[in-house]
Parts: sequence; structure tokens; C-alpha cells
Amino acid sequence: MASSSTHFFLPSLVFLMISFFQLSSHQQLCHKDEYLALMQFKDSFVIERQASTRPKVSLWKSQGVDCCSWEGISCDQNTSHVIGLDLSSSCLFGSINSSSSLFRLGHLQYLNLALNDFNSSKIPSTMGNLSRLTYLNLSGSFFSGQIPHEISKLSNLAKLDLSFNLDHSHQGLLELKRSDLKNIPQNLTKLEWLDLSYVGINSPIPKALANLSSLTHLHFGQCGLHGKFPIDIFQLPKLQVLDLENNWELSGSFPEFHSHSQLRALDVGNTTFSGELPISIGMLSSLEYLDVSSCNLSGWVPPSIGISSKLNFQTQEP
Ligand SMILES: *[C@@H]1O[C@H](CO)[C@@H](O)[C@H](O)[C@H]1NC(C)=O
Ligand SMILES: *[C@@H]1O[C@H](CO)[C@@H](O)[C@H](O)[C@H]1NC(C)=O
Ligand SMILES: *[C@@H]1O[C@H](CO)[C@@H](O)[C@H](O)[C@H]1NC(C)=O
Ligand SMILES: *[C@@H]1O[C@H](CO)[C@@H](O)[C@H](O)[C@H]1NC(C)=O
Ligand SMILES: *[C@@H]1O[C@H](CO)[C@@H](O)[C@H](O)[C@H]1NC(C)=O
Ligand SMILES: *[C@@H]1O[C@H](CO)[C@@H](O)[C@H](O)[C@H]1NC(C)=O
Ligand SMILES: *[C@@H]1O[C@H](CO)[C@@H](O)[C@H](O)[C@H]1NC(C)=O
Ligand SMILES: *[C@@H]1O[C@H](CO)[C@@H](O)[C@H](O)[C@H]1NC(C)=O
Ligand SMILES: *[C@@H]1O[C@H](CO)[C@@H](O)[C@H](O)[C@H]1NC(C)=O
Repeated sequence: MASSSTHFFLPSLVFLMISFFQLSSHQQLCHKDEYLALMQFKDSFVIERQASTRPKVSLWKSQGVDCCSWEGISCDQNTSHVIGLDLSSSCLFGSINSSSSLFRLGHLQYLNLALNDFNSSKIPSTMGNLSRLTYLNLSGSFFSGQIPHEISKLSNLAKLDLSFNLDHSHQGLLELKRSDLKNIPQNLTKLEWLDLSYVGINSPIPKALANLSSLTHLHFGQCGLHGKFPIDIFQLPKLQVLDLENNWELSGSFPEFHSHSQLRALDVGNTTFSGELPISIGMLSSLEYLDVSSCNLSGWVPPSIGISSKLNFQTQEP
């Protein structure tokens, strides 16, 4: 018995070794320091299991030592550095600070920690060290306090979502200083998507935001904005979604729209936007959602507005 099982074992071992070398000539295993940083990051949280979601990190160890093959991780094919970490909805509960092992993942380009519970931690200022980030999503994850000014060092960001960090009574937890908001258009020149819904900004929107020519999505719902909304922002060539709802001290008016505008959704409900709806708004062939309820607009709804069959139009509170 013993000799026949060795007989079977040896060839399969040789086969295993060959496939291992074939594999490793294509792709290295993940870097040890990054493996350790990920394990430490995971271990710094309590995993709050919920019936409906399976935390991605729960399988990490059983998926082997190659962290590049773990759920939620992506690696550069050539260098095997961890470049993507998607732990959205992973039941993470606990605090995070500037010495977190997360910040040893210096090659990260994609970071999604949305829909966890970071227990009212501040967004660590070392977030600004992850200078290769193109995507950062901290939506709905119980971060609180002042957004660190270091966020404007992330000059490669295309998508930044810090929305819906709310306490249990639906009050916004994050704040952004006026001077730091001004730095965003100066440094984050590649921004396509900016969502600051429920971030307490409590200042006017800087005109320079209209310099961000790649913007497609701009969300400032319930930010305590005041002053006059810069009209040039409506004319951004790629803008598809503009959400300004629930800023009842924000004034502004509509421009004449260009027919090549790509606007799909426009929400100025519960603001003090005033003046008339321009006739050209009816020419926006992409427009699907328009909310002008509870604001100071006057005059007639232009008859052209009915032309777009896709349009969902609100003038009154439901
Ligand atoms: C990997 O290297 C090849 C050849 O050097 C290159 O063409 C490719 O763009 C690289 N891929 C990445 C993701 O860097
Ligand atoms: C959450 O924060 C509270 C208050 O700061 C603290 O007492 C508690 O230990 C924290 N819990 C975790 C899991 O970090
Ligand atoms: C940061 O958090 C870790 C736990 O994750 C803790 O051990 C450490 O003391 C904290 N550092 C600071 C400066 O608060
Ligand atoms: C982050 O960057 C700052 C300033 O650039 C540097 O002093 C600090 O050591 C860096 N921290 C980490 C954790 O890399
Ligand atoms: C961020 O995550 C939330 C929750 O999953 C999602 O709804 C939102 O679209 C994401 N933001 C971006 C810019 O992808
Ligand atoms: C702009 O980005 C550069 C390079 O990342 C950085 O050195 C500078 O501090 C940033 N400026 C602001 C105002 O954040
Ligand atoms: C940004 O916009 C402001 C005012 O709208 C303008 O004075 C400034 O030159 C613009 N900056 C860049 C870099 O385009
Ligand atoms: C209008 O916006 C304010 C904040 O600017 C908010 O407190 C209020 O609840 C909003 N009203 C409605 C009807 O949503
Ligand atoms: C908005 O309308 C109300 C009453 O209809 C008026 O009191 C207020 O002055 C108007 N605000 C602006 C900014 O036009």
C-alpha cells in the first residue's frame, strides 16, 4: 500500500511544481508587505455580520497567500502591487486613523470603503498620501468631522464620493472648510464625479469649479450652501447630473441651455433659484429628471418642455 501511494504521489508533485513555475513566470504572488498590510487592516475592525451581506474579507485567509486573488483586491498584472481595494458593504466596524496599515498600500488607484461603519472616525490626513488614487468612495460609512485639506493633494482623482455620512438621526457628520473647497478645482483638475451630499460646507460655491471641464456628476444636496450659484457651471460640456437640492439659502438662475448639452438630471428643489425657466430647457434631448419644486422660479413652464418624452418633471412637493 505504502509503495503504491508514493508512486501516485511523486508524479503529481512534479506536475504541481511545473504548474507553479509556469504560473510564477507569468505572475508573481502578491508582495509580502502588502499582504501583511491587508491582514492588519482587516484585523483592525470588528466584522459586524448581517444576514443579508457576506463580508468580502471573511474568505481572505481561505483564499490562500496570494492576496491578489482575494475578493475585493486587484493587482497590477506586471508588478503584482495592490492597486484596487473594494471593501464596500463589508460590515467593517471600527475606527481608522493616520497610522492605519491601509496607508502602506502606496500603489492604490481605486479605494472603495462605502457602506461600512467607521464609528465617527475622522478621515485620516494620510489619505492624501495615496497619491495615485483615481477613485475614492467613502459614501455612507460614518466618517465625521472636518475633511482634511490633504484630500486636495490627490490630483489624479477622477471620482470622489464623500456623500451620506450621516448620524442615526440623519444629520450630516462631515464638514468642509471654504478654503479647502477652493483648493479642489485648483488641484483635482481631472475630476469627473464629485459627490458631497450632506457635507456641511456652509459657504458659496467657488466660481473656479466651472474650470473642471471633465465634470459629469456634481452633487451638493443638503450642504448648507448660500450665495449665488455660478451660472458657468451649467455650461460645462460633459455635465450630466447637477444636484443642488435642499440648500434653501442658495440662489441662482438658469442660463439659456445649449442644444448639445448632455444634462440628464437637474435638481434645484428647495433652493431660492429664481427667474424663469428658459425656453431652451425644452430642447435638452437628454433630460430625464427636472426638480424645480419649492424654489422661487416664476412665470410659465415653457411649452417646449413636453417635447422630451423621457422627462420626469416635478414642480410640487409630492
Ligand atoms: C505590462 O507590461 C506590458 C509590456 O511591458 C505593457 O504593454 C502593459 O501596458 C503593462 N500593463 C500594465 C497594466 O501596466
Ligand atoms: C467606537 O467609538 C466609541 C466612542 O469613541 C469607542 O468607545 C469604541 O471603542 C469604538 N468602537 C470600535 C469598535 O472602535
Ligand atoms: C490608531 O489606531 C490603532 C488601532 O487601529 C491604535 O492601536 C493606535 O493607538 C491609534 N493611533 C493613534 C495615534 O490614535
Ligand atoms: C504622508 O506624507 C507626509 C507628508 O508628505 C509624510 O510626512 C508622512 O510620513 C507620510 N505618511 C505615511 C504613512 O506615509
Ligand atoms: C459610492 O458608493 C455608493 C454606495 O455603494 C454608490 O451608490 C455610489 O454610486 C458610489 N460612488 C461613485 C462615484 O461610484
Ligand atoms: C496640490 O497638489 C500638489 C501635488 O500633489 C501638492 O504638493 C499641493 O500641496 C497641493 N495643493 C493643495 C492646495 O492641496
Ligand atoms: C479658473 O477660473 C477662474 C475664474 O472663473 C479663472 O480666473 C482662472 O484663470 C481659472 N483657472 C484655470 C487654471 O483655468
Ligand atoms: C429644505 O432644505 C433645508 C436645508 O437647507 C432642510 O432643512 C429642509 O428640511 C428642506 N425642506 C424640505 C421640504 O425638504
Ligand atoms: C423667494 O420668494 C419669497 C416669497 O415668495 C420671497 O420672500 C423671497 O425674498 C424670495 N427670495 C429670493 C432670493 O428671491
